Amino acid sequence: MQTIIEAIDVQKNFDAVEVLRGVSFALVKGETLVVMGGSGSGKTVLLRLVAGLIRPDAGQIRVFDRAIERLSEEELLPLRRRLGFVFQGAALFDSLSVYENVAYPLREHASLDEAEIRARVVRNLSLVGLGGEVLGLLPSELSGGMRKRVGIARALCVEPEALLFDEPTGGLDPTNSKLVGELIRELRGGVCDTAIVVTHDLELARTVADRVAVLIDGRFATIGPVGAVLETTDSAVQAFLAGEAR
Ligand SMILES: Nc1ncnc2c1ncn2[C@@H]1O[C@H](COP(=O)(O)OP(=O)(O)OP(=O)(O)O)[C@@H](O)[C@H]1O
Ligand SMILES: [Mg+2]
Repeated sequence: MQTIIEAIDVQKNFDAVEVLRGVSFALVKGETLVVMGGSGSGKTVLLRLVAGLIRPDAGQIRVFDRAIERLSEEELLPLRRRLGFVFQGAALFDSLSVYENVAYPLREHASLDEAEIRARVVRNLSLVGLGGEVLGLLPSELSGGMRKRVGIARALCVEPEALLFDEPTGGLDPTNSKLVGELIRELRGGVCDTAIVVTHDLELARTVADRVAVLIDGRFATIGPVGAVLETTDSAVQAFLAGEAR
């Protein structure tokens, strides 16, 4: 089984704050790992470390079988291009149309002509259930659920081998959250079968996870299949899950 992303005892501090105090996991090809944890527990920090956007203070992060923590920006780029990022809050460019938002990573990374870019943009929007009528719209003219979908289409545009989602259902109502969860699950059937999904959303975890990890006090308090995590006897995890289920 091919390991796509691996963290080995990763630690990360910001000034005096120990955010990650020893996180370890291995994500294998074809697997979706959901990372849950309270606000400020370090979920986004973990994704940023995996993307090589920040460096750990200790421990190792391996992406496509290469230790990345000492790589230069130039050495990181080809690895980063094999990953798709769906940022917290969709993070679209407000002044750019849907078309230009989705095309953006293609213009950055690939040497495609405009016809190829257009074909990929249209294809990836259709994968997330959006038609040509949204191409010319600005992000402000879209619903929250549509913005998330555009963010996912943008991440898919580079044909990533693994997707990293940061709160893909954050801020959405239950109906749209459910639709986005179903979309993420469907993507596994061919488009991109490997993912890390960071979320507060237990329902999303149930929909997409092969394994769930719960980040508490800088470590994974538990990691395992959804059912096992829900039945945990660890009191800190129980308390977290009880809080999320409210
Ligand atoms: N660049 C930074 N400089 C200083 N502190 C930071 C930085 N990035 C993150 N932190 C701190 O690290 C901690 C974890 O932040 P992180 O954004 O990973 O939380 P999170 O689990 O993603 O929370 P949320 O669910 O609210 O998105 C917080 O205390 C945050 O203030
Ligand atoms: Mg976050």
